[in-house]
Amino acid sequence: MSGEQQKEADSESKAVSDADKQGQPQARMVTVSIMGKPAQVPEDATIMRAIEHSGQQIIRGAGCREGFCGACGTIYRLPGDYRIHTGLACTTLVQDGMALSQIPSVPLEKAVYDLEELTPDVDTIKQLYPATFRCVACGTCTKACPQGLQVMDYIQAAMRGDIAELMELSYDCVACGLCALRCPAEIIQHKVGILGKRLYGRYLRKESKELDSRLQQMKDGEYNGEYAELMSLDREALSERYYARDME
Ligand code: SF4
Ligand code: SF4
Ligand code: FES
Repeated sequence: MSGEQQKEADSESKAVSDADKQGQPQARMVTVSIMGKPAQVPEDATIMRAIEHSGQQIIRGAGCREGFCGACGTIYRLPGDYRIHTGLACTTLVQDGMALSQIPSVPLEKAVYDLEELTPDVDTIKQLYPATFRCVACGTCTKACPQGLQVMDYIQAAMRGDIAELMELSYDCVACGLCALRCPAEIIQHKVGILGKRLYGRYLRKESKELDSRLQQMKDGEYNGEYAELMSLDREALSERYYARDME
């Protein structure tokens, strides 16, 4: 855990004890098992907050803390429920009786290739990720995906050589690897998705005058002043600017 994260966790614990001293109502607590160790944590905590609240430091398996980077894959079970659930620790709330473990990384072997030498078709998928064709269409990957993506459908698109569909359906993948972890055919879906996005971007994307013109503006240095200004900001000012940005 970084110094910043430790400060946040400390100030959260202090807020709870200050509320206690002043007789204010505290957050209701629930009991969870964090990698086999029971802990009392606020009921409205995310899994990541709960781990820190229990006094543990997150050294690996955390990045953006906003559901974008895919670093915080977690598996958990709930009382009376036979299923293994999956989620991102930074966006999934705890539940009473939850038993959880974080997955710091999912081992995989990624293909090495030169994009300029590839063709956007099924032969490329066969050559670089042959395991894709072991898919038995069980749908487990789709169930596991915390992004709610149709993972099985994008793997099926890859098997048909439909690169546009592969790109479209895998677009919001955060590469957490939870689908790969659950796949009985041991396919590494997110890497197939990344290949599809690269192939689409390099060979199949529609021409866009707007994009070309913006790229030219960047090459011409039109934004150099704004970059320099951003680079001069301190962490707090940058953070303020980030959260005030327009979201599309
Ligand atoms: S497709 Fe797989 S790697 Fe991508 S977000 Fe979903 S579960 Fe994670
Ligand atoms: S979990 Fe694996 S085998 Fe099952 S549908 Fe997904 S990619 Fe195919
Ligand atoms: S820390 Fe980035 S997705 Fe959870």
